[in-house]
Amino acid sequence: MKKILFAASEGVPFIKTGGLADVVGSLPKCIDKEYYDVRVILPKYTCMRQEMKDKLEYVTHFYMDFNWTDAYVGILKAEVDGIQYYFIDNEGYFGGFKPYGDNALFEIEKYAFFSKAVLSVLPILDFRPELIHCHDWQTGLVPVYLKERFQGNDFFRGIKSVITIHNLKFQGKWDPKVVQNITGLPQYYFTPDKLEAYKDANLLKGGIVFADAVTTVSDTYAEEIKTPFYGEGLEGLLNARSRDLRGIVNGIDYEEFNPETDKYIVKPYNAVNFRKEKVKNKRALQEELGLTVDDRKMMIGVVSRLTDQKGFDLIAYVMDELCRDDIQLVVLGTGEERYENMFRHFDWKYSDKVSANIFYSEELSHKIYASCDAFLMPSLFEPCGLSQLMSLRYGTVPIVRETGGLKDTVEPYNEYESRGTGFGFANYNAHEMLAAIRYAEQIYYDKKREWNKIVDRAMAADFSWEVSAKKYQEMYDWLIGY
Ligand code: ADP
Ligand code: GLC
Repeated sequence: MKKILFAASEGVPFIKTGGLADVVGSLPKCIDKEYYDVRVILPKYTCMRQEMKDKLEYVTHFYMDFNWTDAYVGILKAEVDGIQYYFIDNEGYFGGFKPYGDNALFEIEKYAFFSKAVLSVLPILDFRPELIHCHDWQTGLVPVYLKERFQGNDFFRGIKSVITIHNLKFQGKWDPKVVQNITGLPQYYFTPDKLEAYKDANLLKGGIVFADAVTTVSDTYAEEIKTPFYGEGLEGLLNARSRDLRGIVNGIDYEEFNPETDKYIVKPYNAVNFRKEKVKNKRALQEELGLTVDDRKMMIGVVSRLTDQKGFDLIAYVMDELCRDDIQLVVLGTGEERYENMFRHFDWKYSDKVSANIFYSEELSHKIYASCDAFLMPSLFEPCGLSQLMSLRYGTVPIVRETGGLKDTVEPYNEYESRGTGFGFANYNAHEMLAAIRYAEQIYYDKKREWNKIVDRAMAADFSWEVSAKKYQEMYDWLIGY
């Protein structure tokens, strides 16, 4: 049995702000249990839902030398769906109303603490993984600490590490002297061949340099990040590590996202009966959100963090034009104020057509995936994207910019060959996006049979974890070496 530990800053069903949590929550369940014992370690955030906190069982606690003090490290555990979860407790770091805060330096201290604690708890838990699978900058110091101080100890010697980049935009950067002081790493780690990048200490870079392999969440993004536009300054390093860098596209949990059994939606449906049944969800959502109730209106959905990554500048630019079309737009998201206010404004201006829901809701997200005809995701960059996979699963046709994982998972409609599962556009240009939306409108309104065939193909596409989980297993085997 190969033992693998996932270390991450969020994971479903305990805590989620975005797609990272979906991946951390669903991938371990799909790794072959006959050969692998996959466990997950997360911070114990005070802001976790009470219902989830109630599931946690205290294991023990100890004090760890960190940032010039003996820091409290509590360990808790829980088992959910056959997966063993561990939690690191320290309310000084993981208190607060949200998992992530705005104080960049504190975030670095917090996740440096987490990374060191992840390693420190293993002997106490008597769990020695052969490999630690780290995710994003928050766990970037795990491979660093592993190579630095822990390798001297028999327990840790030979443990491999992998880091998966879910989003290169976030790297965890601060002044090297300060970071050195907090982490206790030797000064010679803060050079451009190790943690330093452009005069900052960079935690993600540390992970990329010291991990035994690096992955990211789609093939296209794995290529894109070797270029200056997408590389966020680390393209040189990623080119240098390109032999150890691979793209493995994300999947989604096909049980959680299933239009036939979804407890949140009004009318379950499937690939056979969607022509009659899916629209009943649209009708219910129109009523719930106060939009014109009309089966025939094309309803476009957006469920997203409202950040510039997601292409909202394009939407802002042509929103008035778009709202003059015969469509409805349903938005669910939170994030930057300018985008929140933009959608609120258009909700007020076109109240029967636009519904802006500026909050977080699992339930409404499922209703949108199920009810809409199309789903808009014009991202500036997109490492993988899960929302378009959820849309495909619910027969809601994605309209995407062809970048990163969007390019790898949505095949643009080709009317001459009767192919495609969605609509795409290439350049980051608002009118190109609008043209793609209008092309979709035209097929939806004038060629309904063609539209339904797109839905057929979308629902037949398979983005469960089956194929990708095997690729992770191959990588684990290759690294562990037997
Ligand atoms: P990212 O990780 O960059 O935010 P993804 O498409 O990979 O983008 O994943 C986003 C996940 O977060 C999806 O599961 C999506 O449904 C969910 N999500 C985003 N915003 C909200 C919201 N306001 N309410 C509910 N779910 C949301
Ligand atoms: C990141 C990316 C998103 C990806 C998710 C899970 O948040 O922005 O594209 O799907 O991680 O890998």
